Amino acid sequence: KKLSIIGMPMDLGQMRRGVDMGPSAIRYAGVNERLKNLFDEVHDLGDIAIGRPEVAIDAESNLRNLDLVAEKSQLLANQVDQVVQEGAFPLVLGGDHSIAIGTLAGVAKHYKNLGVIWYDAHGDLNTAETSPSGNIHGMPLAVSLGIGHPLLTEVGGYNPKIKAENIVIIGARALDDGEKELIKEKGIKVYTMHEIDRLGMTKVMEDTIAYLKEKTDGVHLSLDLDGLDPHDAPGVGTPVNGGISYRESHLAMEMLAESGIVTSAEFVEVNPILDDKNRTASVAVALMGSLFGEKLL
Ligand code: ARG
Ligand code: MN
Ligand code: MN
Ligand code: MN
Repeated sequence: KKLSIIGMPMDLGQMRRGVDMGPSAIRYAGVNERLKNLFDEVHDLGDIAIGRPEVAIDAESNLRNLDLVAEKSQLLANQVDQVVQEGAFPLVLGGDHSIAIGTLAGVAKHYKNLGVIWYDAHGDLNTAETSPSGNIHGMPLAVSLGIGHPLLTEVGGYNPKIKAENIVIIGARALDDGEKELIKEKGIKVYTMHEIDRLGMTKVMEDTIAYLKEKTDGVHLSLDLDGLDPHDAPGVGTPVNGGISYRESHLAMEMLAESGIVTSAEFVEVNPILDDKNRTASVAVALMGSLFGEKLL
């Protein structure tokens, strides 16, 4: 079993600078050390070259930094594609959640029915028309469904990447009106905080795994650290109170490890500038440990 780590230090999908330092923060929190013993080989491929592009405020389009996000996403898609081709497990470190556009473009072409677990306070199902912010990090799940600006939906040269019936959103508690409509229209499976409180994380994950297992040939985990409660993961740009706890998140990762269904993953929105002594990056690394099969005993 081989793991390839890819850093995507991109902050162009939103306005809070600092999330571009996410990959460094996660490396300082010891990701390589932690995962070394869980795989035969761990390769850190370093960061995708984002540089320091001039960001033109494109007030007209309601798609902040559209061209840059599209261009950089293609670079990530190429790298992820290559990792999957080599038979390694791709683990992408963000960066804001717009990076999922590139990750999914690189992964999904290798599967007929890629499942997606979107672990997040948000739906990230906006379009330029529905977005309250113009921030592309609020759009990657819609883009991957083929809904959005063609420069984004065509990253990787094919579209769509995923099907609505293969998605499970976990942890939602801040959905915009347009996102709620899209969820209903497409029949996307969502476990909001209400269901997590009511059913418990054990049941939520059992159901999620059963739901995805029977109809997908691979599952991508897209874990936004703001899915967790801000008490446990304060270093994020768009925190929302009342989130998933640290313990529930470990349980979720352990159950995914046991199921063996996850074939790629990304951990996004770690912003060390907003963090409390790199705690959020440490949480990300601890969750990766559980996801990849660390046991307490
Ligand atoms: N729904 C809000 C928006 O579209 C917030 C999105 C937050 N997304 C994230 N990946 N943190 O702007
Ligand atoms: Mn433009
Ligand atoms: Mn979020
Ligand atoms: Mn998100």
